[in-house]
This record gives sequence, C-alpha cells and structure tokens, in this order.
Amino acid sequence: MNKRFYITTAIDYVNGAPHLGHAYEKVITDVIARARRALSPSPGASAQQGDGVFFLTGIDEHGQKVQQAAQADGKTSQAYCDELAAIWQAFAKKLELTNDDFIRTTTARHKAAVQAILAKLHAAGHFYKAAHSGFYSTKEETFLTEKDRLPDGNFPAQYGEVVQLVEENWYFKLGAHQQWLIDYIEANPGFIQPDYRRNEVLGFLKNNTLEDLCISRPAARLNWGIPLPFDANFVTYVWFDALVNYVSVPAALGDEAVLSVLPSSLAPHAPHLNLWPADCHVIGKDILKFHAVFWPIMLKAMALPLPRQILVHGWWQKDGAKISKSTGNVIDPIAVIDEWGLDAFRFYVVRELDIGPDGNWTDAGFQSRYGSELANGLGNLVNRSLSMLKRYRNGIVPAPANELSGDAAKVIADVRAALEKNELQAALQNIWLLVTRANQYVDQTAPFKLAKDPAQAARLDEVLYNLAETCRVLAVLLWPFLPGTSGKTYAQLNLPGSPARFAQSQWGGLVAGHAIGEPAALFPRKDQPKK
Ligand code: MSP
Repeated sequence: MNKRFYITTAIDYVNGAPHLGHAYEKVITDVIARARRALSPSPGASAQQGDGVFFLTGIDEHGQKVQQAAQADGKTSQAYCDELAAIWQAFAKKLELTNDDFIRTTTARHKAAVQAILAKLHAAGHFYKAAHSGFYSTKEETFLTEKDRLPDGNFPAQYGEVVQLVEENWYFKLGAHQQWLIDYIEANPGFIQPDYRRNEVLGFLKNNTLEDLCISRPAARLNWGIPLPFDANFVTYVWFDALVNYVSVPAALGDEAVLSVLPSSLAPHAPHLNLWPADCHVIGKDILKFHAVFWPIMLKAMALPLPRQILVHGWWQKDGAKISKSTGNVIDPIAVIDEWGLDAFRFYVVRELDIGPDGNWTDAGFQSRYGSELANGLGNLVNRSLSMLKRYRNGIVPAPANELSGDAAKVIADVRAALEKNELQAALQNIWLLVTRANQYVDQTAPFKLAKDPAQAARLDEVLYNLAETCRVLAVLLWPFLPGTSGKTYAQLNLPGSPARFAQSQWGGLVAGHAIGEPAALFPRKDQPKK
C-alpha cells in the first residue's frame, strides 16, 4: 500500500496552558499538511482525511515537569493529565488543525511501543547500567553539571540545597554512532533545514564526543514515567518516551516498516496505514539536538530508516523580550482568536515569520497587518468585487474574460513552488501580489464609472468577470492558510464544496450565468466602534 506524506509536530508538555509558541508550530504544520493535501494528485479524495497525508500532533505527559505541575495543583498525575489533555485537544480544534490523530503518551498504545523498543534495544546490547556520582539539586530534582556553577564555584540559589549523590541508571551507548551520523547529515543536505541549523548540528557532532544518554530515572525519585521492561526500579527518561511517539502511532495503525522491526501485537485491530519514515518533523530550535542526534541514533539502533526532514522553526518573543509566564510577557492565542478571528491569527504568524529565524510579536504589528492586508487588502477586494457584480449584474457571472489571468497564472506557479519548499511566508507574499494587483485593477478600470455608461456594458462585464474569478482563485490559494476565509469566499461565490484542491486555482472556473451568493465582510474593520 502507498505510503502517506507523514508530518508531525513536537508533542507539548502539559505542564501549563498552550501559548503562542505552541500555537505557531501547530499552525505552520497544519498549513504544510493542508498544502500537501491540496497539491496531492488524487482527485476526488476527501480534503480533510485520507488522501496521501497524515498529520500527527499531541502531548507529552510524563516526566518531572508534569509530575511537579500535578503536585502543585493537588492532583494525581493521571487526573491532571486527563484535564490538560482535554484543554490541549480543544486548542487543536480552536486552531482548526487537520490532524489525523492526537497522541497522548500515557495511552496504552504508546506505552506498549516504548516498552517494545526498550526491550529490543536492551536485548541487542545497546544499554548498560552504571552508577553516576554528581551534584543533585533536591529542589529542582535534577543533576547539575559543571556548567551550572557560578564563577565563584557555588550553584545558583534557584537550585536550593545541592548535594553530592551517587545514583544508578541505565545508559544508551552513543559513541559508536557519532561518525555515521556525521556522514549521513553531510550526505543528505535536506535532512535538517534550514541550512544554518544543519551546520549547528554538524559543528556540535564534529567538536564534541557524544556522551552516553541516560535513558532512565529511578522510580524512587520520579514515578511518573513508563517502567523499563527489564528493570522495575526505573522509569523511562521522558525524552526517550516522547520521541517514540513518532513511531508508536504508525505501529498502532499497522505501518509495515515499523512492524517489520517491532512486535505485530502493537497493532491488534489496526487499519494498515504506511507512514514511516516520517517526511517532516516540525520542531523548535531548542529541541534540535534531541531530534537530530538522539532520535536518528535510536532509529538506527531499531533498524528503522531516518525521517526525511527535520524542519526547525525559531522562537517567538513578545515586544522584543522572552515570552515568560513569570514576567507576564505572554500572548494568549485563544484570547487573540476570540477577539480577531482564527484566520487573522493564522495569517499574522505565518506572514510575519519565515520558518527558521526568531520572531517578535507586537500588538501594533498584528493590528496593522489586520487592517492593511486583511481588511483593506483581501477583505475589501472580495467585498467590492462581489458587491459590484451583485449590484450591476444581479449577481450573474458574465462571459469569461482573461485580463488578469496572466497575473493569476504567475502567482499560482510561484505559490506552488513556494509550497513545495515549505516557504509559507513567501507563498503568502505571492498571494498578496495578486490581491494588490486586483485592487489596483478596480481603481484603474473604475467599474463604478463604467456602470454609468451603457456604451461600456461589455467592458464592465469583462472587469466584473476578472474580479470575481480572481476572488475564486484567491479562495483556492488561501485554503491551506486561512481555511475559514477561503471557505466563506467560496460560499459567497455560491460554489459548492470547499476550495481544497490546488488544481481548482486554474483560471476560468467561474462559468457564465452562474449566480453568486450574498457578499459579506470577511474582516470587519476594528477601528469603528462596535455596535
Ligand atoms: N515535550 C517536548 C517536545 C517533545 S517532541 C518529541 C517539548 N515540549 S514544549 O511544550 O516545551 O515545546 C513544544 C514545542 O513548542 C517545541 O517545538 C518548542 O520549540 C515550541 N515552543 C515553545 N516555546 C516557543 C516559543 N516561544 N516560540 C516558538 N516555539 C516555541 O519541548
């Protein structure tokens, strides 16, 4: 069976509410997933589900951070996670993510896969148990390293009392993997993107000797984790557990590649979906080492092929400072969406920030893009184009004309090329070239003047067709980015279905005699007092 394009996000810790950074990553991944579906060549397949793309997101529920958050909330870890899971799943819906599955790492299907992998790697001799003596912060419940020391030799006050402790743990031998990983990254330039992130990983691997990875925590001090199948005194280190999500879901769904190396009992009643290797892991820059070093080594040890790409995005700041709950410098994406609409939020984050560099949210910048690009740009174009067609031609589409078809064709080709390279910001910039061109066309052709002169009726027909058809093309191009707006535009044009396939963008889709629906503002202006 054919393999689907398999795209994932990082799975978020459920130690608090979702914030802008989480929302950003999920939105860009959703745009890529929607774009891949739109571009996929299977006509007639449903746009939401099942045509060649599988989009996975979810939450990371184990580990110390979550256990501490549950304790602070006076709840058991499981009860706390169940509550938070509902919040995070509702958040995915709020963002209108088209994820095909949602992984929780506390579910049986995931735990079984983690334990199967641990058992396999243990049997193959990848692990050993050793005692480690180090400086341990009881307050933070973590071992500190020399790097954590202040220049005066003491540890910072935030760590509380620091004691020297000897602790046994299980370790994963990484040393033997260093050279092939360097060779692999060098031979596969697309594996880690953008290039500067790839160079960062190569620099790290070439200038350091990989230390073995501690893959356990003693159950006596951290019980919120998956027990090691071969030593009941330990639970699995949360990162080993979390990374496995990318294959535990394929395993549970009957993926042939994954089940060729893991027990078939992991997929008892599953449909057979072939997903592995993942085509794209979308992650933030802070978790690059886990994905570009530890994860490939884990996969190699399991005898699974590596993901095709790790796509690394930057971090958002607000007003030039780190987003931080303790200082109150936060953006609540849900509040923004409730006030401005989901598409305004999706538009701002994708248009403002290319995938790679860091971004800076400012409320003024958000409002300015809303006003100029959405309300005055796209919204105004669609509203006046359809209103004029309604007013001057009773909403009936005139005979096809093609004055703007060349502009549209160029933009369509450039948007396709950008989407194929995951250049989402560039795709939006290109789409707005067409918005701007069409708004200029209204000003240049002045249909309101043409309408006053019966001798210009044929010219007015041409202009109205060009405008309505451009709105239709824009609805198709915007589908991955602004699904609500795209759907509303299609509905106002009274076209059936949704504009979910890129091929629908070809000029000439509106036919003469078609009656459009009712125009309505897409982006209400916010500078006017609310009624
Ligand atoms: N649970 C781990 C990931 C495990 S993946 C197998 C984790 N969780 S997290 O909740 O801390 O972060 C989840 C994602 O959100 C990461 O990709 C991270 O980079 C991203 N972001 C968190 N804060 C961010 C910003 N301020 N800006 C952009 N993205 C940021 O790490």
